[in-house]
Amino acid sequence: MKALILVGGYGTRLRPLTLSKPKPLVEFCNKPMVMHQVEALAEVSWLDHGILSETKFRLNSLFIDIKNNRYFLGITITISQEKEPLGTAGPLALARDHLTVDEEPFFVLNSDVVCDFPFKQMLKFHRDHGKEGTIVVTKVEEPSKYGVVVYDAKTGRIDKFVEKPQVYVSNKINAGLYIFNPKMLSRIELRPTSIEKEIFPKMAQEDELFAFDLPGFWMDVGQPKDFLIGMGLFLHFLREKHPNRLHEGPGIIGNVLVDPTAKIGDGCRIGPNVVIGPGAVIQDGACLSRCTILQEAVIRSHSWIHSAIIGWKSVVGQWFVWKGISTWKTIIVKDEVYISMADRLLQIISDSHRP
Ligand code: GTP
Ligand code: GTP
Repeated sequence: MKALILVGGYGTRLRPLTLSKPKPLVEFCNKPMVMHQVEALAEVSWLDHGILSETKFRLNSLFIDIKNNRYFLGITITISQEKEPLGTAGPLALARDHLTVDEEPFFVLNSDVVCDFPFKQMLKFHRDHGKEGTIVVTKVEEPSKYGVVVYDAKTGRIDKFVEKPQVYVSNKINAGLYIFNPKMLSRIELRPTSIEKEIFPKMAQEDELFAFDLPGFWMDVGQPKDFLIGMGLFLHFLREKHPNRLHEGPGIIGNVLVDPTAKIGDGCRIGPNVVIGPGAVIQDGACLSRCTILQEAVIRSHSWIHSAIIGWKSVVGQWFVWKGISTWKTIIVKDEVYISMADRLLQIISDSHRP
């Protein structure tokens, strides 16, 4: 079987991190986002061919590694490269030859969702209803920023697919994981196309689209607020399924993930919900909660950080205090700074000597 992962796009909502790295390669819980999907697919033994659908000019080292090997974690990987961004449906037309080598259905995944990927259950559900497509749906509290799905709770048959509705229609949304029969490719032309806006509504109208209800957690981690919420959910999932991957020790509170090459000083208070990346240095007495510290960032002593993503190689000065949601690419913050609002941050960045 085959799977296509959408790894193009601009990732505007995760700026400034995505100014220097494509979103699928930004590390979520110490792993590039797309590797969460690739590894989950690799665990499904009957899956043998993965396609990474990429936009030209953004190829980087991970993709080059995969491209050279062509065989990764037991899966043959093909890079399908677009000359211009083709949206969320166009890439399927571009990869048509790969997706139609047999009559088997194929998976399509957004690269910025995290969940306990239910590939086997999806396939069974899809085969049982026998129509062209299955989309995974999940329940959220605020459906208005997503594609909302109205469907028959008993059969899963989708009535309506409404992208970012202005008025409430349902709290079940498109989770960004699909399985399709090759036949549905006849609906897609080789041009920039949105699968959510242009393809799904038509399929639903023709009774060719069914909804599979996702068991367990889900989050689209393509923007800072949701990245941090998703981090909390993923760490909770690790606590339940793989507790030995979490960090324990003095000063560690709740669910905390620490790369073995990171260094943590004395008297720190780390957690709950903290991820510390490779080579990061957390100096003595620092206090971190609900944050991700990316590779090689340095948090100097007695800093206090809550609700932030601290970018690669950032240096955060001692006695720094941060509370609120923020994402920083690479910054240097001077010692003894207290900020609680994002606009103050701009001032501080411009005052600092950037590397
Ligand atoms: P934002 O700019 O923040 O909306 O991010 P995005 O451009 O990644 O868009 P979005 O989160 O809606 O994309 C959903 C999924 O489709 C992600 O996995 C993207 O990587 C992928 N994607 C979006 N646009 C394209 C595209 O033009 N080509 C390909 N191959 N993938 C895309
Ligand atoms: P405070 O600033 O102390 O109120 O922190 P907070 O953790 O509530 O952070 P913030 O206000 O920035 O959170 C934004 C939204 O995310 C709120 O609706 C929170 O309820 C929600 N949220 C915060 N942490 C988590 C989490 O770990 N899991 C989930 N599912 N939601 C969370």
